[in-house]
Amino acid sequence: MGHRVYIETYGCQMNLADSEIVLGHLGRHGFVEAGSAADADVILLNTCAIREHAEERVVGRLTQLLPLKLRDPRLRIGILGCMAQHHRASLLDRLPFLDFVLGPDEYRNLPTILDRQGFDDPTIEVRLGRDETYADVSPARREGVRAWVSVMRGCDKFCTFCIVPYVRGRERSLPLRLILDQVNEAARAGFREIVFLGQTVNAYRHDDVDFADLLRAAARVTGIARIRFTSPHPSEMSDRVIEVMATEQAVCPQVHLPLQSASDTVLERMGRGYTIEQYDRLLERLRRARPGIEFSTDIIVGFPGETESDFQATLDYLRHAGYDHAFSFAYSRREGTRAARWHETVDRAEKRRRLTTVIEVQERISLERSRAWCGRSVEVLVEGAARRGQGWLSGKSAEFKTAVFPSGRHAAGEVVRVLVRDATAHTLIGDAVEGQSPEACANA
Ligand code: 5AD
Ligand code: SF4
Repeated sequence: MGHRVYIETYGCQMNLADSEIVLGHLGRHGFVEAGSAADADVILLNTCAIREHAEERVVGRLTQLLPLKLRDPRLRIGILGCMAQHHRASLLDRLPFLDFVLGPDEYRNLPTILDRQGFDDPTIEVRLGRDETYADVSPARREGVRAWVSVMRGCDKFCTFCIVPYVRGRERSLPLRLILDQVNEAARAGFREIVFLGQTVNAYRHDDVDFADLLRAAARVTGIARIRFTSPHPSEMSDRVIEVMATEQAVCPQVHLPLQSASDTVLERMGRGYTIEQYDRLLERLRRARPGIEFSTDIIVGFPGETESDFQATLDYLRHAGYDHAFSFAYSRREGTRAARWHETVDRAEKRRRLTTVIEVQERISLERSRAWCGRSVEVLVEGAARRGQGWLSGKSAEFKTAVFPSGRHAAGEVVRVLVRDATAHTLIGDAVEGQSPEACANA
């Protein structure tokens, strides 16, 4: 029985963090990570179900992996995560060579499933647990400067387009003490930045501890220079959280705040729980609380019933809000959601046109905002070599802008002040300016 495991991850940061949990859990049971699919005894695909395209990629990848299985029938291939949960009934019909299908709350059973001798029948385990948080599992984190920490799982919002509440189950949060243990452990392992993760991360609540308490407690951990979180829900952004953003400098001046649409009719039908006016007021309050804060967002185009004027309202709002970045998607019908029962009024070609337009509009805004940094300096937490070639380092500014600069004597993990002299839509290009940055000593 082989113990080398290879895992591939699709989809969001939560899935990446889940893969670290899976590897951590398997590691405790004697499994080791394989360097590639070809070297593995077990191949796991941790999957995403958010849009059809994400699922198509997984099916394509499985077709590629099939020859490995044909060559060595002892190789086991399993599907984990959201797509496993979503298509639990049909996956084995479509892909009969799969050995197991496990939903997001079933990872604890993996060692047992893999240790089972001589099993022939595929295993399907897709119960959603109301309590499963994997709070006691130490994730096998990749090396780097940024550690991802899942603080809550699931979602109770049921936006009408979204499959997440059905595949990840009900909202549940980890105890503060166990989260702080993870933060301390990450700090000891050399991580400088923590990103709190959750489907609606700011809905975090455990006993009488809320998200504001969690942020404040984490901001005090020695060795951690920066704290971020993703993704918050606009309706859960309490005054207390805004107050923490204003007062805790370790909490970065950057928020990813999914908008989806700027038309009140569309927002209402999406079940988002806010109007555009309320959302806009929230941006203003955050800007007042934390001058210099940068925002990014998610946009869906072509939702059932979205008219040209609804779409124009979204474009106008993008220009007004001045996001640093927007992730834009064409609406993808998800079986089982409320919106899946509604007639699709925007055809494929029109969705594509709206998507291209949104992307073009946002790219211009991003470029303009990036260029505005020229001549100013940013604090860069260095992550490692830049893609542009030898002698360059790359990292993120506190506002989550990618910045690159000639390395000099600097290295990953340092906070370096960089004077920006050029910019593309998504990258600031500059030079390190000498002298220790104040942030470098903030908590160290
Ligand atoms: N179609 C298109 N985009 C979607 N998203 C979620 N569900 C769908 C869907 N059915 C987008 C939303 C969300 C992001 C993670 O994915 O914008 O914020
Ligand atoms: Fe999906 Fe809405 Fe929950 Fe986000 S808040 S995961 S979009 S249901």
